[in-house]
Amino acid sequence: MEEKIRFTLNGRKTEITVDPGRTLLWVLRNRLGLTGTKYGCGNGFCGSCTVLINDEPERSCTIPVGDVSGKRVLTIEGLSRNGKLHPLQQAFIDNDAMQCGYCTPGMILTAAGLLLKNQSPSRQEIVDALEDNLCRCGAHEHIIDAVESASKVMKGGK
Ligand code: FES
Repeated sequence: MEEKIRFTLNGRKTEITVDPGRTLLWVLRNRLGLTGTKYGCGNGFCGSCTVLINDEPERSCTIPVGDVSGKRVLTIEGLSRNGKLHPLQQAFIDNDAMQCGYCTPGMILTAAGLLLKNQSPSRQEIVDALEDNLCRCGAHEHIIDAVESASKVMKGGK
């Protein structure tokens, strides 16, 4: 049975009438038109569907939308500010950290969650945080470079 679900999506109060058992990923893509969050495995293994829920990286393919009621959800569409890319988005471009780009939104949101908790992660901490996000193109080295460089920019360094 459908219910009204209210949550904050990319900084905006959002209300949707939907079966609360539908996955957050399905609702984002099919009801709210936010197709930046990608469907990969659908089973919580690949990380391509990662979004931030209350600042924590979560796999939206396994989360019923009813569970985000009253929470804050951030997707790749909500990361830029006033038309300016988030430092992580810019760093992914600058470091050539993608080939097909399918894993990129999940990588960036996972990295964003890391940098919210730890402004100066070591390379190993970045590797550990992204370990369960799969990239079939093999761009991992560049992805780690991008997160390292974004963390420096975000701290005001270069
Ligand atoms: Fe959600 Fe793979 S699609 S983890």
